[in-house]
Amino acid sequence: MIRINGLNKSFSTINGPLHVLRDINLQVGVGQRVAVVGSSGAGKTTLMHLMGGLDHPTSGEVLFEDKSLFALKGAALDAFRNSTIGFVFQFNQLLPEFTALENVMMPLLIAGQSRKDARLPAAEILAEVGLEERFEHKPGALSGGEQQRVAIARALIQKPRLLLADEPTGNLDRRTSADIFALLDRMHSHYNLTMVIVTHNDLLAARMDRVLKIEDGQLAADDLN
Ligand SMILES: Nc1ncnc2c1ncn2[C@@H]1O[C@H](COP(=O)(O)OP(=O)(O)O)[C@@H](O)[C@H]1O
Ligand SMILES: [Mg+2]
Repeated sequence: MIRINGLNKSFSTINGPLHVLRDINLQVGVGQRVAVVGSSGAGKTTLMHLMGGLDHPTSGEVLFEDKSLFALKGAALDAFRNSTIGFVFQFNQLLPEFTALENVMMPLLIAGQSRKDARLPAAEILAEVGLEERFEHKPGALSGGEQQRVAIARALIQKPRLLLADEPTGNLDRRTSADIFALLDRMHSHYNLTMVIVTHNDLLAARMDRVLKIEDGQLAADDLN
């Protein structure tokens, strides 16, 4: 599904270029579940953004089903991302002015569905993450863990082919984390969802098919679980 060839990313800083990712090569097959681990600052978030077409590499390519992600531009890239890739950001990036339900409906509204049609699937997936009592809450009135669950529901509402999640259980207690893992398992078995998940949670990493370790911007290991 995804092929990454010779990917490099550097940022220009006042101290000169900062090489964050160096020569990353990676293939992720359809339905594969991949954990990405590595210390803070190793380049995990940068890699996720490149895989989701949210940022451009300095060199190298990201192919999604043999098509370069960066050949798509502007509205075409936005539409592709909206329908194909679910993204859970490290800091959930919910829209503060909208309720939990509206945040989850948003990808459907952006894709042109009516509020009436978007409401039921959003309510169903919010119930799946245990938030049936929080539909009308705005993000500021939700706990950190509840906000993460809303973000996960929003990422899954379009039944994406690929889920990219950046520390999705970072703020969650064990019990809620277990609920999220169970939801991801269901999405995987029902839809053969491919997932790449950055995590510090050893339990979650151990449930994935592969664990990739990033060290100093390079893939250090690819252990089959
Ligand atoms: N936009 C940017 N400009 C400059 N440096 C950046 C930028 N984004 C990230 N970095 C640097 O790149 C490195 C990797 O960041 P990141 O991918 O967020 O790490 P991780 O998610 O593994 O903690 C860090 O040293 C960070 O400071
Ligand atoms: Mg990060």
